[in-house]
Amino acid sequence: MARLWLVAVLVSVVSVLKASEERSQIEPLVYDEQLLWVSGGAGEVNTYRIPLLSFTSQGSLLAFTEARKHSSGDIGAKFIAMRRSTDKGATWSPTFFIVNDGSMVDGLNLGSVVVDEQTGSVILVYSLCFHQYHCHPSSTMLVESLDDGLTWSAPRNLSVQLGVKSFAPGPGFGIQKRYDPSAGRLVVCGHGTLEGDGVFCILSDDHGRTWKNGAALKSIPYNQPKQNLDFNPDECQPVELQDGSIVINVRNQNNYHCHCRMVVRSLDGGETLPVEELKFDHTLVDPVVAAGALQKEGVLYFSNPANSQHRVNMTLRWSLNDGKSWEKEALQIWPGPSGYSSMTTLVGNSVEDKKFVFVIYEKGHREYIETVSVAKIHLYGGR
Ligand SMILES: *[C@@H]1O[C@H](CO)[C@@H](O)[C@H](O)[C@H]1NC(C)=O
Ligand SMILES: *[C@@H]1O[C@H](CO)[C@@H](O)[C@H](O)[C@H]1NC(C)=O
Repeated sequence: MARLWLVAVLVSVVSVLKASEERSQIEPLVYDEQLLWVSGGAGEVNTYRIPLLSFTSQGSLLAFTEARKHSSGDIGAKFIAMRRSTDKGATWSPTFFIVNDGSMVDGLNLGSVVVDEQTGSVILVYSLCFHQYHCHPSSTMLVESLDDGLTWSAPRNLSVQLGVKSFAPGPGFGIQKRYDPSAGRLVVCGHGTLEGDGVFCILSDDHGRTWKNGAALKSIPYNQPKQNLDFNPDECQPVELQDGSIVINVRNQNNYHCHCRMVVRSLDGGETLPVEELKFDHTLVDPVVAAGALQKEGVLYFSNPANSQHRVNMTLRWSLNDGKSWEKEALQIWPGPSGYSSMTTLVGNSVEDKKFVFVIYEKGHREYIETVSVAKIHLYGGR
Protein backbone atom coordinates (compact mmCIF):
# COMPACT_ATOMS: atom_id res chain seq x y z
CA MET A 1 0.00 0.00 0.00
CA ALA A 2 2.71 2.46 1.08
CA ARG A 3 4.73 1.48 -1.96
CA LEU A 4 1.81 2.15 -4.32
CA TRP A 5 1.32 5.51 -2.68
CA LEU A 6 5.01 6.30 -3.21
CA VAL A 7 4.78 5.30 -6.86
CA ALA A 8 1.76 7.58 -7.31
CA VAL A 9 3.63 10.51 -5.73
CA LEU A 10 6.69 9.86 -7.89
CA VAL A 11 4.61 9.66 -11.06
CA SER A 12 2.91 12.96 -10.30
CA VAL A 13 6.20 14.64 -9.34
CA VAL A 14 7.78 13.42 -12.57
CA SER A 15 4.86 14.68 -14.68
CA VAL A 16 4.91 18.09 -12.99
CA LEU A 17 8.68 18.29 -13.53
CA LYS A 18 8.28 17.20 -17.14
CA ALA A 19 5.63 19.85 -17.81
CA SER A 20 7.72 22.63 -16.25
CA GLU A 21 10.83 21.38 -18.04
CA GLU A 22 8.95 21.51 -21.35
CA ARG A 23 7.76 25.02 -20.54
CA SER A 24 11.25 26.28 -19.71
CA GLN A 25 12.62 24.80 -22.94
CA ILE A 26 10.41 26.97 -25.10
CA GLU A 27 12.49 28.45 -27.87
CA PRO A 28 10.19 29.22 -30.81
CA LEU A 29 11.51 29.39 -34.36
CA VAL A 30 9.87 29.81 -37.75
CA TYR A 31 9.88 26.28 -39.15
CA ASP A 32 7.97 26.93 -42.36
CA GLU A 33 6.13 29.86 -43.90
CA GLN A 34 3.76 30.09 -46.87
CA LEU A 35 1.85 32.91 -48.54
CA LEU A 36 -1.79 31.82 -48.71
CA TRP A 37 -3.19 34.88 -50.47
CA VAL A 38 -1.61 37.67 -52.54
CA SER A 39 -3.58 40.87 -53.11
CA GLY A 40 -3.73 42.83 -56.33
CA GLY A 41 -3.56 39.83 -58.65
CA ALA A 42 -5.89 39.20 -61.54
CA GLY A 43 -9.44 38.06 -60.87
CA GLU A 44 -12.36 39.07 -58.74
CA VAL A 45 -10.47 40.15 -55.63
CA ASN A 46 -8.74 43.45 -54.95
CA THR A 47 -7.39 42.81 -51.44
CA TYR A 48 -7.23 39.96 -48.93
CA ARG A 49 -7.44 41.12 -45.32
CA ILE A 50 -8.44 40.00 -41.80
CA PRO A 51 -7.04 36.44 -41.70
CA LEU A 52 -8.33 33.81 -39.26
CA LEU A 53 -6.98 30.35 -38.60
CA SER A 54 -8.55 27.35 -36.91
CA PHE A 55 -7.82 23.77 -36.00
CA THR A 56 -10.57 21.20 -36.50
CA SER A 57 -11.35 18.25 -34.26
CA GLN A 58 -10.26 15.95 -37.11
CA GLY A 59 -6.77 17.50 -37.16
CA SER A 60 -7.09 19.78 -40.20
CA LEU A 61 -6.27 23.48 -40.40
CA LEU A 62 -8.71 25.99 -41.90
CA ALA A 63 -7.58 29.47 -42.96
CA PHE A 64 -10.14 32.18 -43.71
CA THR A 65 -9.84 35.75 -44.92
CA GLU A 66 -11.97 38.56 -46.29
CA ALA A 67 -11.63 38.76 -50.07
CA ARG A 68 -12.45 42.40 -50.73
CA LYS A 69 -13.81 42.69 -54.26
CA HIS A 70 -13.26 46.30 -55.30
CA SER A 71 -10.92 48.06 -52.86
CA SER A 72 -8.82 47.58 -49.75
CA GLY A 73 -11.37 49.43 -47.58
CA ASP A 74 -13.32 47.86 -44.71
CA ILE A 75 -16.62 48.83 -46.36
CA GLY A 76 -17.61 47.18 -49.67
CA ALA A 77 -18.62 43.83 -51.15
CA LYS A 78 -16.61 40.75 -50.22
CA PHE A 79 -16.29 37.00 -50.25
CA ILE A 80 -15.13 34.89 -47.35
CA ALA A 81 -12.20 32.92 -48.76
CA MET A 82 -11.02 29.65 -47.23
CA ARG A 83 -8.11 27.26 -47.71
CA ARG A 84 -7.79 23.93 -45.96
CA SER A 85 -4.78 21.84 -44.96
CA THR A 86 -5.07 18.17 -44.00
CA ASP A 87 -1.31 17.65 -43.54
CA LYS A 88 -0.54 20.02 -40.66
CA GLY A 89 0.10 23.05 -42.85
CA ALA A 90 2.50 21.46 -45.37
CA THR A 91 0.11 21.93 -48.31
CA TRP A 92 -3.14 23.86 -48.71
CA SER A 93 -6.20 23.37 -50.89
CA PRO A 94 -7.08 25.93 -53.57
CA THR A 95 -9.19 28.88 -52.40
CA PHE A 96 -12.93 28.34 -51.92
CA PHE A 97 -15.31 31.26 -51.57
CA ILE A 98 -17.64 29.99 -48.85
CA VAL A 99 -19.77 33.16 -48.46
CA ASN A 100 -20.58 35.85 -51.06
CA ASP A 101 -22.35 39.08 -50.08
CA GLY A 102 -23.10 39.96 -53.74
CA SER A 103 -22.79 43.66 -54.39
CA MET A 104 -23.58 45.03 -50.92
CA VAL A 105 -22.18 48.54 -50.42
CA ASP A 106 -21.42 47.73 -46.75
CA GLY A 107 -20.83 44.01 -47.03
CA LEU A 108 -19.56 41.32 -44.70
CA ASN A 109 -16.76 41.64 -42.13
CA LEU A 110 -14.86 38.81 -40.41
CA GLY A 111 -15.17 37.40 -37.91
CA SER A 112 -14.61 34.67 -35.37
CA VAL A 113 -14.14 30.98 -35.98
CA VAL A 114 -15.07 28.62 -33.18
CA VAL A 115 -14.77 24.83 -33.02
CA ASP A 116 -17.21 22.77 -31.01
CA GLU A 117 -15.05 19.80 -30.06
CA GLN A 118 -18.04 17.90 -28.69
CA THR A 119 -19.91 17.91 -32.03
CA GLY A 120 -16.95 18.48 -34.39
CA SER A 121 -18.68 21.45 -35.97
CA VAL A 122 -16.79 24.54 -37.15
CA ILE A 123 -18.73 27.77 -36.79
CA LEU A 124 -17.87 31.08 -38.42
CA VAL A 125 -19.53 34.25 -37.10
CA TYR A 126 -19.34 37.49 -39.11
CA SER A 127 -21.20 40.77 -39.53
CA LEU A 128 -23.17 42.27 -42.41
CA CYS A 129 -23.64 46.03 -42.80
CA PHE A 130 -21.49 46.63 -39.71
CA HIS A 131 -20.90 50.33 -40.52
CA GLN A 132 -24.57 50.89 -41.52
CA TYR A 133 -23.29 52.69 -44.59
CA HIS A 134 -26.23 52.88 -47.03
CA CYS A 135 -27.86 49.92 -45.29
CA HIS A 136 -29.79 49.16 -42.11
CA PRO A 137 -29.70 47.39 -39.73
CA SER A 138 -26.43 45.60 -38.98
CA SER A 139 -26.74 41.81 -38.68
CA THR A 140 -24.66 39.13 -36.96
CA MET A 141 -24.45 36.06 -39.21
CA LEU A 142 -23.30 32.46 -38.79
CA VAL A 143 -22.25 29.69 -41.18
CA GLU A 144 -21.35 26.20 -40.02
CA SER A 145 -19.49 23.17 -41.39
CA LEU A 146 -20.21 19.67 -40.09
CA ASP A 147 -17.70 17.94 -42.41
CA ASP A 148 -14.30 19.39 -41.46
CA GLY A 149 -14.67 22.52 -43.60
CA LEU A 150 -15.59 20.81 -46.88
CA THR A 151 -19.14 22.21 -47.12
CA TRP A 152 -20.85 25.09 -45.35
CA SER A 153 -24.41 25.80 -44.33
CA ALA A 154 -26.45 28.70 -45.67
CA PRO A 155 -25.95 31.87 -43.55
CA ARG A 156 -28.11 32.10 -40.41
CA ASN A 157 -29.10 35.47 -38.94
CA LEU A 158 -28.26 35.59 -35.21
CA SER A 159 -29.66 39.12 -34.84
CA VAL A 160 -33.12 37.58 -34.67
CA GLN A 161 -32.05 36.28 -31.22
CA LEU A 162 -29.44 38.88 -30.25
CA GLY A 163 -30.97 42.11 -31.51
CA VAL A 164 -29.64 44.30 -34.31
CA LYS A 165 -26.77 46.09 -32.60
CA SER A 166 -23.58 46.49 -34.70
CA PHE A 167 -21.27 43.69 -33.55
CA ALA A 168 -17.98 42.80 -35.24
CA PRO A 169 -16.80 39.42 -33.91
CA GLY A 170 -13.08 38.93 -33.23
CA PRO A 171 -11.26 39.08 -35.45
CA GLY A 172 -9.75 35.79 -34.36
CA PHE A 173 -11.22 32.70 -32.78
CA GLY A 174 -14.02 32.11 -30.34
CA ILE A 175 -13.58 29.48 -27.65
CA GLN A 176 -15.40 26.46 -26.38
CA LYS A 177 -14.92 26.39 -22.60
CA ARG A 178 -12.95 23.28 -21.61
CA TYR A 179 -13.10 23.96 -17.87
CA ASP A 180 -15.81 25.09 -15.48
CA PRO A 181 -17.53 27.45 -15.04
CA SER A 182 -19.74 26.62 -18.02
CA ALA A 183 -17.61 23.88 -19.63
CA GLY A 184 -18.85 23.25 -23.19
CA ARG A 185 -20.10 26.82 -23.70
CA LEU A 186 -19.19 28.65 -26.93
CA VAL A 187 -17.90 32.18 -26.30
CA VAL A 188 -17.44 34.63 -29.18
CA CYS A 189 -16.20 38.13 -28.34
CA GLY A 190 -15.96 41.20 -30.55
CA HIS A 191 -16.55 44.92 -30.58
CA GLY A 192 -19.24 47.51 -31.33
CA THR A 193 -19.42 50.54 -33.62
CA LEU A 194 -16.75 53.19 -33.24
CA GLU A 195 -19.05 55.27 -31.02
CA GLY A 196 -20.93 52.49 -29.21
CA ASP A 197 -17.68 50.62 -28.88
CA GLY A 198 -16.46 48.18 -26.30
CA VAL A 199 -15.83 44.48 -25.94
CA PHE A 200 -19.00 42.37 -26.14
CA CYS A 201 -19.34 38.59 -25.93
CA ILE A 202 -22.11 36.34 -27.18
CA LEU A 203 -22.66 32.90 -25.64
CA SER A 204 -24.17 29.59 -26.69
CA ASP A 205 -24.82 26.69 -24.31
CA ASP A 206 -26.35 24.40 -26.94
CA HIS A 207 -23.56 24.00 -29.52
CA GLY A 208 -24.43 27.15 -31.47
CA ARG A 209 -28.16 26.59 -31.89
CA THR A 210 -29.22 29.53 -29.71
CA TRP A 211 -27.18 32.53 -28.61
CA LYS A 212 -27.54 35.19 -25.93
CA ASN A 213 -25.69 38.40 -25.12
CA GLY A 214 -23.01 37.98 -22.44
CA ALA A 215 -20.28 40.20 -21.03
CA ALA A 216 -19.75 43.84 -22.01
CA LEU A 217 -16.87 46.22 -21.31
CA LYS A 218 -18.17 49.51 -22.66
CA SER A 219 -16.20 52.47 -23.94
CA ILE A 220 -16.31 55.84 -22.12
CA PRO A 221 -18.09 58.08 -23.03
CA TYR A 222 -20.41 55.38 -24.33
CA ASN A 223 -22.34 56.02 -27.54
CA GLN A 224 -20.65 59.36 -28.00
CA PRO A 225 -17.87 60.52 -30.31
CA LYS A 226 -14.43 59.70 -28.98
CA GLN A 227 -11.32 61.80 -28.56
CA ASN A 228 -7.71 60.77 -28.53
CA LEU A 229 -6.82 58.98 -25.24
CA ASP A 230 -10.44 58.07 -24.40
CA PHE A 231 -11.20 54.61 -23.02
CA ASN A 232 -12.16 52.62 -26.11
CA PRO A 233 -11.75 48.83 -26.03
CA ASP A 234 -12.08 47.41 -29.54
CA GLU A 235 -11.06 44.26 -31.47
CA CYS A 236 -10.23 41.39 -29.14
CA GLN A 237 -9.10 37.79 -28.72
CA PRO A 238 -10.41 35.63 -25.84
CA VAL A 239 -8.34 32.76 -24.44
CA GLU A 240 -9.32 30.28 -21.73
CA LEU A 241 -6.74 29.69 -19.01
CA GLN A 242 -6.43 26.36 -17.22
CA ASP A 243 -8.22 27.77 -14.15
CA GLY A 244 -11.35 28.26 -16.29
CA SER A 245 -11.11 32.05 -16.44
CA ILE A 246 -11.26 33.78 -19.82
CA VAL A 247 -8.57 36.35 -20.56
CA ILE A 248 -9.39 38.76 -23.37
CA ASN A 249 -6.56 40.61 -25.08
CA VAL A 250 -7.96 43.89 -26.43
CA ARG A 251 -7.03 46.57 -28.97
CA ASN A 252 -6.68 49.90 -27.16
CA GLN A 253 -8.28 52.01 -29.89
CA ASN A 254 -7.56 55.51 -28.53
CA ASN A 255 -4.33 54.72 -26.65
CA TYR A 256 -5.93 55.16 -23.24
CA HIS A 257 -3.22 55.01 -20.54
CA CYS A 258 -0.53 53.59 -22.89
CA HIS A 259 0.41 52.56 -26.42
CA CYS A 260 -0.15 48.99 -25.29
CA ARG A 261 -2.71 46.21 -24.97
CA MET A 262 -5.65 46.12 -22.59
CA VAL A 263 -6.28 42.78 -20.91
CA VAL A 264 -9.55 41.95 -19.16
CA ARG A 265 -10.64 38.75 -17.45
CA SER A 266 -13.99 37.04 -17.03
CA LEU A 267 -14.34 34.74 -14.02
CA ASP A 268 -17.87 33.57 -14.80
CA GLY A 269 -17.64 32.02 -18.26
CA GLY A 270 -18.08 35.24 -20.23
CA GLU A 271 -21.12 36.64 -18.43
CA THR A 272 -19.30 39.69 -17.04
CA LEU A 273 -16.05 41.63 -17.51
CA PRO A 274 -15.56 43.43 -14.17
CA VAL A 275 -13.47 46.59 -14.29
CA GLU A 276 -11.45 45.18 -11.34
CA GLU A 277 -10.15 42.56 -13.77
CA LEU A 278 -8.92 45.12 -16.33
CA LYS A 279 -5.24 45.89 -16.69
CA PHE A 280 -2.83 47.43 -19.15
CA ASP A 281 0.07 45.29 -20.27
CA HIS A 282 2.96 47.69 -20.79
CA THR A 283 5.19 44.94 -22.18
CA LEU A 284 2.76 44.35 -25.03
CA VAL A 285 3.52 47.57 -26.91
CA ASP A 286 1.02 47.97 -29.76
CA PRO A 287 0.30 50.33 -32.67
CA VAL A 288 -3.55 49.87 -32.35
CA VAL A 289 -4.28 46.67 -34.26
CA ALA A 290 -5.97 43.27 -33.97
CA ALA A 291 -3.55 40.84 -32.30
CA GLY A 292 -3.34 37.09 -31.72
CA ALA A 293 -3.34 35.14 -28.44
CA LEU A 294 -3.31 31.44 -27.64
CA GLN A 295 -2.96 29.17 -24.61
CA LYS A 296 -1.21 25.84 -25.17
CA GLU A 297 -0.17 23.45 -22.39
CA GLY A 298 -0.10 26.21 -19.81
CA VAL A 299 1.95 28.64 -21.93
CA LEU A 300 0.32 31.85 -23.14
CA TYR A 301 1.38 33.15 -26.57
CA PHE A 302 0.84 36.61 -28.05
CA SER A 303 1.43 37.93 -31.59
CA ASN A 304 1.33 41.50 -32.89
CA PRO A 305 3.36 44.07 -34.80
CA ALA A 306 5.45 45.02 -31.75
CA ASN A 307 5.92 48.73 -32.33
CA SER A 308 4.20 51.65 -30.59
CA GLN A 309 3.59 53.66 -33.78
CA HIS A 310 3.62 51.54 -36.92
CA ARG A 311 2.34 48.20 -38.11
CA VAL A 312 5.77 46.58 -38.53
CA ASN A 313 7.77 43.93 -36.68
CA MET A 314 5.44 40.91 -36.37
CA THR A 315 6.56 39.32 -33.11
CA LEU A 316 5.65 36.27 -31.04
CA ARG A 317 5.91 36.49 -27.25
CA TRP A 318 5.26 33.87 -24.60
CA SER A 319 4.46 33.85 -20.92
CA LEU A 320 4.96 31.03 -18.41
CA ASN A 321 2.65 32.59 -15.79
CA ASP A 322 -0.60 33.32 -17.64
CA GLY A 323 0.51 36.75 -18.84
CA LYS A 324 1.65 38.19 -15.49
CA SER A 325 5.01 38.69 -17.20
CA TRP A 326 6.51 37.79 -20.58
CA GLU A 327 9.79 36.03 -21.29
CA LYS A 328 12.61 38.39 -22.26
CA GLU A 329 13.34 36.71 -25.56
CA ALA A 330 10.78 37.22 -28.33
CA LEU A 331 10.61 35.74 -31.82
CA GLN A 332 10.59 38.23 -34.67
CA ILE A 333 8.51 36.60 -37.41
CA TRP A 334 8.78 39.44 -39.93
CA PRO A 335 10.56 42.81 -39.48
CA GLY A 336 8.64 44.63 -42.20
CA PRO A 337 5.04 45.81 -42.58
CA SER A 338 2.67 43.48 -40.75
CA GLY A 339 -0.88 43.95 -39.54
CA TYR A 340 -3.59 41.71 -38.14
CA SER A 341 -2.63 38.27 -36.83
CA SER A 342 -4.34 35.22 -35.39
CA MET A 343 -3.05 31.93 -33.98
CA THR A 344 -4.07 28.32 -33.65
CA THR A 345 -2.63 24.94 -32.76
CA LEU A 346 -3.65 21.36 -33.44
CA VAL A 347 -5.13 19.69 -30.38
CA GLY A 348 -4.31 16.02 -31.10
CA ASN A 349 -2.12 13.98 -28.76
CA SER A 350 0.70 13.29 -31.23
CA VAL A 351 4.22 14.54 -30.46
CA GLU A 352 3.99 16.53 -33.71
CA ASP A 353 0.86 18.37 -32.55
CA LYS A 354 2.49 19.35 -29.26
CA LYS A 355 5.45 20.97 -31.01
CA PHE A 356 3.81 23.61 -33.19
CA VAL A 357 1.69 26.73 -33.19
CA PHE A 358 0.57 28.53 -36.35
CA VAL A 359 0.43 32.30 -36.85
CA ILE A 360 -1.52 33.75 -39.77
CA TYR A 361 -0.86 37.41 -40.46
CA GLU A 362 -1.00 40.30 -42.89
CA LYS A 363 2.47 40.74 -44.38
CA GLY A 364 4.06 43.02 -46.95
CA HIS A 365 7.20 44.73 -48.16
CA ARG A 366 5.82 48.23 -48.65
CA GLU A 367 2.36 47.82 -47.10
CA TYR A 368 1.04 45.18 -44.73
CA ILE A 369 -2.02 44.53 -46.91
CA GLU A 370 0.01 42.91 -49.72
CA THR A 371 -0.29 39.27 -48.63
CA VAL A 372 -1.69 36.88 -46.02
CA SER A 373 0.97 34.51 -44.75
CA VAL A 374 0.93 31.54 -42.39
CA ALA A 375 4.00 30.75 -40.28
CA LYS A 376 4.41 27.33 -38.70
CA ILE A 377 6.30 27.89 -35.44
CA HIS A 378 8.33 25.11 -33.82
CA LEU A 379 8.13 25.70 -30.06
CA TYR A 380 11.28 23.78 -29.08
CA GLY A 381 13.96 25.27 -31.33
CA GLY A 382 13.50 22.61 -34.03
CA ARG A 383 14.27 19.74 -31.65
C1 LIG B 1 -31.54 39.77 -39.39
O1 LIG B 1 -32.56 39.85 -38.42
C2 LIG B 1 -32.86 41.16 -38.00
C3 LIG B 1 -33.86 41.05 -36.84
O2 LIG B 1 -34.96 40.32 -37.19
C4 LIG B 1 -33.42 41.94 -39.19
O3 LIG B 1 -33.75 43.26 -38.81
C5 LIG B 1 -32.34 41.95 -40.27
O4 LIG B 1 -32.83 42.60 -41.44
C6 LIG B 1 -31.94 40.53 -40.64
N1 LIG B 1 -30.79 40.60 -41.55
C7 LIG B 1 -30.72 39.90 -42.68
C8 LIG B 1 -29.50 40.03 -43.49
O5 LIG B 1 -31.63 39.18 -43.05
C1 LIG C 1 10.56 44.62 -32.57
O1 LIG C 1 10.12 43.95 -31.40
C2 LIG C 1 11.15 43.69 -30.45
C3 LIG C 1 10.54 42.87 -29.33
O2 LIG C 1 9.52 43.56 -28.71
C4 LIG C 1 11.74 45.01 -29.95
O3 LIG C 1 12.79 44.75 -29.06
C5 LIG C 1 12.23 45.81 -31.14
O4 LIG C 1 12.64 47.09 -30.71
C6 LIG C 1 11.12 45.97 -32.17
N1 LIG C 1 11.62 46.64 -33.35
C7 LIG C 1 10.94 47.59 -33.99
C8 LIG C 1 11.59 48.20 -35.19
O5 LIG C 1 9.83 47.96 -33.65
